[in-house]
Amino acid sequence: MIRITTDSAVSLEVDWLVLLSGAHESLPADLRQTDQQLNGKLGSIWSRNEFAGDYCKTLSLRQLTEISPVNLLLAGIGQTEELSAERLRRSLLTALRKINKQPGLRIGVRFADHVAVGWSASTLIELAADCATVAVVDAGVHKQKPSRFDFKEVHIAVDQPPVDADEHVKSGRTIGSAVSGTRCLVNYSAYQMTPERMVEEARELANQCDLEFQVLDAADLARENMNAMLAVAQGSDRTPSLVRLSWRGNPTSSDEIGLAGKGVTFDSGGLSIKPTESMVAMKSDMAGAATVMEAVGAAASLRLPVNVTAWLGLVENMISGQSYRPGDVVTARTGTTIEVQNTDAEGRLVLADVLSYAIDHGTTHLIDLATLTGACVVALGEEITGMFGGCDELSGRIEQAATNTGEYVWPMPMHAHFDELLKSDVADCRNVGPRWGGAVTAACFLRKFVGTTPWVHLDIAGPSWANTSAAWCDSGGTGAMVRTLIQLLRQWPVQSQPARH
Ligand code: BES
Ligand code: MN
Ligand code: ZN
Repeated sequence: MIRITTDSAVSLEVDWLVLLSGAHESLPADLRQTDQQLNGKLGSIWSRNEFAGDYCKTLSLRQLTEISPVNLLLAGIGQTEELSAERLRRSLLTALRKINKQPGLRIGVRFADHVAVGWSASTLIELAADCATVAVVDAGVHKQKPSRFDFKEVHIAVDQPPVDADEHVKSGRTIGSAVSGTRCLVNYSAYQMTPERMVEEARELANQCDLEFQVLDAADLARENMNAMLAVAQGSDRTPSLVRLSWRGNPTSSDEIGLAGKGVTFDSGGLSIKPTESMVAMKSDMAGAATVMEAVGAAASLRLPVNVTAWLGLVENMISGQSYRPGDVVTARTGTTIEVQNTDAEGRLVLADVLSYAIDHGTTHLIDLATLTGACVVALGEEITGMFGGCDELSGRIEQAATNTGEYVWPMPMHAHFDELLKSDVADCRNVGPRWGGAVTAACFLRKFVGTTPWVHLDIAGPSWANTSAAWCDSGGTGAMVRTLIQLLRQWPVQSQPARH
């Protein structure tokens, strides 16, 4: 249960009060009253330099008798000038994850006044509800015993809540659930989260959230001449599928947003096999599909006034007597022939057919999310999403949405000379370029299958997966870009109605 309260935070009957403060050398003025209620305990903590509000630092005060909360957790958010939604979430998540190691806890959350400056109460409420939802999930989908527990009660203390405060709690929960859902889908083993299982997960989500659901099975894909996608799938015992999940929230709008996700449930590399170290995290190669699926589910739960479709390209890239081979030439759905030079460049083959299908089925604005290249991780590191594509308006909106949610995207070039690198002697193109600029040539390859529809490609190979855990998040699937996609859909311009005279 998450509720909003205007009661003073120190009067809350809770096991823990989480109090967020910015970095200050001395006790922040707006905490003086709380300090008095605590008989000067805060002041002495600051003067002894035990806690100064530094980013993601915490300090706990236990068994308090002066105030109603039994324990107090001070949580630092760092310099307020550097604050972003992501930094605020990480600070709060760090604190929540310090205390949710036992079941049944009641907690209060309070942002100090100097933290809340410049943030609307509704944003803070949503963010707190989001964090309280996400903090509960750990990487241990396979553990016998859970190591984190849902809070019994979460009281978010704000002085002046907006009238629709409860709506913001709900949207925070929805967003948090979408992030957690993505993380869980990624964290399951590849023998569990097969293409078939992903289809079932999508079907279930469609039932829960009132989405249109359609699945194209292997025979349908063959009828559609989606031979690039089928080539990747043919080495696996699992059957490939293309899933469509649609939310029609605005029948009067002609905008049809398509979100295409790379859903390679395991990427062994195929015959161009990966070394073990590179293969070990490749159950996460379906993160794009998981991300778009959860984003559309959230759009429906939030009843957003947009039309949006998730397209999931679900296959497994494996090795067998049926595998596609380096040197094979395959004909994509558009008729373009592709010389396969490396079976490990499989995501682009899957997306080639998925993108063209999405465009031929009503998409007016297309965004794909894919764990497409290691080269993108080399270029931007593990936390920044590479953004490619010719549509400045669409990429501008994505950038804005990312800034608002505090996630990191960075625009990448796609100059025409990269296309030269994909030329083939025997086919219309090949599926890999030379080593340098690998993230760009991958994006240029996708561009061949998009035509003139506004399109942006997001390479999430780095951000979708964390190799190590941090105070605010376990290792494994991260749910990166789920919040940005939801924010993009929330900010989508509602088409103006024809003026009435
Ligand atoms: N799924 C990988 C990309 C990847 C790498 C995702 C690291 C997450 C972390 C993709 O299918 C792949 O194997 N790409 C190759 C392309 C190469 C063969 C041109 C790569 O990046 O090495
Ligand atoms: Mn690969
Ligand atoms: Zn891959």
